[in-house]
Amino acid sequence: MKSLEVKYLGLTLKNPVVVSSSGLTSTVDNIKKMEAAGAGAVVLKSLFQEQITHEAQAYEHEGDYPEAHDYIMSYAVNNSVEEYLKLIREAKQAVSIPIIASINCTSVGEWVSFAKRIEAAGADALELNIYFLASNKDMNAAACEAQYLGIAAKLRSIVTIPISVKMPKTFTNIPHMVDQLYYRKINGVVLFNRFYEPDINVETMKVESASVFSSPSDIRESLRWVGIVSAAVPLVDVAASTGIHSGEAAIKQLLAGAAVVEVCSVLYKKGPKAINEILEFINGWMGKHHYKSIEEFRGKMNPKNLGSLDVYERSQFMRYYSSHE
Ligand SMILES: Cc1cc2nc3c(=O)[nH]c(=O)nc-3n(C[C@H](O)[C@H](O)[C@H](O)COP(=O)(O)O)c2cc1C
Repeated sequence: MKSLEVKYLGLTLKNPVVVSSSGLTSTVDNIKKMEAAGAGAVVLKSLFQEQITHEAQAYEHEGDYPEAHDYIMSYAVNNSVEEYLKLIREAKQAVSIPIIASINCTSVGEWVSFAKRIEAAGADALELNIYFLASNKDMNAAACEAQYLGIAAKLRSIVTIPISVKMPKTFTNIPHMVDQLYYRKINGVVLFNRFYEPDINVETMKVESASVFSSPSDIRESLRWVGIVSAAVPLVDVAASTGIHSGEAAIKQLLAGAAVVEVCSVLYKKGPKAINEILEFINGWMGKHHYKSIEEFRGKMNPKNLGSLDVYERSQFMRYYSSHE
């Protein structure tokens, strides 16, 4: 009898397919559909730091009475949060899979105190989407990293539920960053975040958004780092994210060492049935290779279990380029 059960952030999931934070997880109806299609857990759409700030500022100039202003500011902040807390509470009632809340933030600020209420509303874990582009030439790499670590440490001091950090791939030394997060008692990392990407329309001369959806080839960068990080920092759970569009891609990430795979674009393209297709593939593949549990093969192809970092690094690069005339 095969089992697809996995552990992620101290939670037991019936399988490793997690729905990524997005509009797909912003309503209870959608979350129910994801559970019905077989999802092991869902990450709710992010509560944005900007969203809270923006709502508060929209009220800022209405009325000249300071007491009213204070009240309105706190109403605006609470209201947007209230909506989010309601989503957590209702989702917890409606489904039995774990509900992971998500906060998108750039710095330590007022939003931090909201995390306590997210925990109280019943979220099983918190995914922290730290969306901070290092574009200031006067800010060095150490300062950028300190900003990420400061947010993570602050959150850790506020909630007791497991925390994962959804990271960009732009750090100089990704395993070192993950290790630093581990020392701040962060339970997991999501590799990787997908930032907004600008494009330029040469006819309208406007900056537009490039496609927000990934393609299957986008798996490569996360595959490398899932392998390297899961071997280097084994006590931090790794969720693979970006470019996982098929059961085969999910198996690759599990073989590299991922605890779970997060999927998003493929669900926008194919609908919730894509989850079932991925699970069927995993089941079939495990049967073919005589595996009874995910743990039996998870990480089998990461550098530690292969006994060498080479296949993820330079020697393969040299072989690859020298074999192409
Ligand atoms: C329409 C859309 C909305 C998204 N919204 C969020 C969000 O609110 N918070 C977040 O952390 N990531 C968000 N993401 C990023 C996804 O969670 C995911 O990390 C990214 O799409 C890469 O996974 P994929 O290749 O499976 O699409 C969004 C992605 C899309 C396409």
